[in-house]
Amino acid sequence: MTGAVDPIIDFTGVNKSFGPVHVLHDVDFRVYPGQVTALVGDNGAGKSVLVKTTVGIYQADSGQLHFEGRPVHIKGPKDAAALGIEVVYQDLALCDNLDIVQNMFLGREVTRRGLLDDGEMEQLARTTLSGLNVHTVKSIRQSVSSLSGGQRQTVAIAKSVLWNSKVVVLDEPTAALGVAQTAQVLALTRRLAEQGLGVVLISHNMNDVFEVADRVACLYLGRMVADVPISEVNRQQVVELITTGRSGDIGMATDAAGNGSIDRRGGPT
Ligand SMILES: Nc1ncnc2c1ncn2[C@@H]1O[C@H](COP(=O)(O)OP(=O)(O)OP(=O)(O)O)[C@@H](O)[C@H]1O
Ligand SMILES: [Mg+2]
Repeated sequence: MTGAVDPIIDFTGVNKSFGPVHVLHDVDFRVYPGQVTALVGDNGAGKSVLVKTTVGIYQADSGQLHFEGRPVHIKGPKDAAALGIEVVYQDLALCDNLDIVQNMFLGREVTRRGLLDDGEMEQLARTTLSGLNVHTVKSIRQSVSSLSGGQRQTVAIAKSVLWNSKVVVLDEPTAALGVAQTAQVLALTRRLAEQGLGVVLISHNMNDVFEVADRVACLYLGRMVADVPISEVNRQQVVELITTGRSGDIGMATDAAGNGSIDRRGGPT
């Protein structure tokens, strides 16, 4: 990676509590266009809360969000979608009884003179899938219940990029997949970044992280303990960051109670 890239999402100083439970502590979260940022951290570290706070499902108690360099206020998922930020949640939220086209346009149907424009939606679905090099589904009119886990994930991802998205967050997209399907979804993840999108990959799987990520951001007990180019860390260091919040000179300088300073090495590359 050469030359500096400005982050497309730059969310700084984020704090989020639920009642007395302080979940996110002064988190800085950056997403770069054309790059896959792996967001890692143990169960309960705050990954999902951070993403939901970014897209306005939760309101941060403090924090400044810049999108494409401009300060923005996202009040809810609609605002996030309007900016071009999409999240593919782990449960996928696809409707089994609907076909691929219906799922991709659910809630955002294309109409003409008040009627559903099926031809247009089919065409858009086809173009999007082939643009992403997805050729594994037989018919875009087959019901989603007939798809494999990997195909479902593919449809969910394709749905998220239908609307000229600029940022796509994938929450554990390969968690339930076998080897071949994981490879397909990772290839698709890479392609999104190659098309210029800022991609966030939430994952517990180090193979996935090291296969597709350009950067790795690690949350530990609600603190961002590292945000570095993947080339600066190895698997063992990432595992250490996830489990202890520190590895060598990266991460928290002192105790897990959070009194330590955090070395935020590795600016944009
Ligand atoms: N709505 C909520 N109300 C109260 N506490 C919450 C809420 N949502 C999350 N939390 C707490 O915030 C912390 C972070 O949760 P989060 O779901 O972000 O973890 P995560 O990093 O996504 O973990 P996982 O890898 O298991 O998905 C947890 O301690 C969780 O119990
Ligand atoms: Mg989660």
